[in-house]
Amino acid sequence: MSEKVKLTYKDKEYEFPLLEGAEEEKGIDIKTLRAQTGLVTYDPGYKNTGSCKSEITFLDGEEGILRYRGYSIEDLCEKASFLEVAYLLIFGNLPTAKELALLNIEIRKESLVDEDLKSILKSFPKSAHPMGVLSSLTSGLIAFNPSSVDIASESDLREAIIMLLAKFPILSSWTHRKVKGLPLNYANTSLSYEDNIAHMLFKLPHQDYEASPVVVSALNKLLILHADHEQNCSTSTVRIVGSSHAGLFASVSAGISALWGPLHGGANQAVIEMLEAIKADGGDTKKYMQKAKDKNDPFRLMGFGHRVYKNFDPRARIIKKAADEVLNELGINDPVLDIAKGLEKEALSDPYFIDRKLYPNVDFYSGIIYRALGIPTEMFTVMFALGRLPGWIAQWSEMRKNNEPIGRPRQIYTGENHRTI
Ligand code: SDX
Repeated sequence: MSEKVKLTYKDKEYEFPLLEGAEEEKGIDIKTLRAQTGLVTYDPGYKNTGSCKSEITFLDGEEGILRYRGYSIEDLCEKASFLEVAYLLIFGNLPTAKELALLNIEIRKESLVDEDLKSILKSFPKSAHPMGVLSSLTSGLIAFNPSSVDIASESDLREAIIMLLAKFPILSSWTHRKVKGLPLNYANTSLSYEDNIAHMLFKLPHQDYEASPVVVSALNKLLILHADHEQNCSTSTVRIVGSSHAGLFASVSAGISALWGPLHGGANQAVIEMLEAIKADGGDTKKYMQKAKDKNDPFRLMGFGHRVYKNFDPRARIIKKAADEVLNELGINDPVLDIAKGLEKEALSDPYFIDRKLYPNVDFYSGIIYRALGIPTEMFTVMFALGRLPGWIAQWSEMRKNNEPIGRPRQIYTGENHRTI
């Protein structure tokens, strides 16, 4: 018999079931709250609200734990490829050799996008932000793959998933090539999924290209670390758009737009722009720490703080170590890395940050690696989206398989009462 939670309102007592998750986290099931009491809850930003039950990702913000289908990100970064992690998130288990081979065959068959999509790309100015371009191209995919919209069966779903896993890296690489004014690359299906991403991003038409193991290993780790993060802003967007029975591609296109924001995935670009501004300002980190603490100053220490992690973001710990390794192995001395470390050191001993449990998050160091790999700053959030794709797909699939109702929150109306003209 599940525990109950009691609510007293107007001298009447109401009971609601207490749900307990696999990791002993607890939630009040208020599905019948309004029917029983006439009340709704009020929770701006859903800081205290569970939107769903999910079997995909578990994170513990206090302990700094992140697991995909029970596997720790530390283990997965060391022992799995990004495509294996994508399979794990979407289908629930790490693939056998046979399952991975089949997935590769299916993806290679779909590793082309309709040439007419280039006309959408061409219609953008070179100055267009790649996230806006990627969201449009992803939505444009629907027109060329109409079967991806009405998911009526497992086979329809698998077909749409394979198409997106195959075509999204191509479109992502095209946004990069557009920014750099370079000719567009096609997929090279003789390469691994991860090598092919590096190839499409970096191969120049007049030179042979062999992705260095350092680049591919760093990319693989970064993509795995961004692959899912339970009910974050962009994933919740993908779920709620999909809950209206909009298709997978349209839902992911909306998720890309949500991720673009500087408070979310756009923070990785904002971090580098912040570090560059501090460098240009003589490296005066103390001045920027003061600005970050000044309530009258809109400046925030980008890459710091997190809605859930009130301890170190475990991804930031791994990425910080990888940043040192990549820069050493590529022989790069990037002064903004030193500025980042200086800021981190100061923040971790500053009462303002300590009291608010503000630690470096996934975005604080990732841009330093992307930069070392030759990826332009405005492309950093596209790289985040490329990593997050399997998580979006997994969460969307779970929402549809569970036949979740259309998302439609309530409100507390504070406007005008009835009035006549
Ligand atoms: C991602 O949700 C996810 O899982 C997201 C993500 C994922 O994988 O999907 O992890 C990816 O989005 C990481 C976060 C990237 N964003 C940034 O780095 C932007 C800078 N960080 C902040 O804007 C902020 O920390 C948020 C948005 C990340 C979290 O904001 P919350 O949880 O709404 O917290 P809050 O804004 O209420 O802040 C609490 C206090 C406030 O001060 P007080 O009003 O209590 O005095 O902390 C302060 C804030 O002013 N604060 C900061 C700060 N972050 C919070 N002060 C200075 N610098 C900061 N970065």
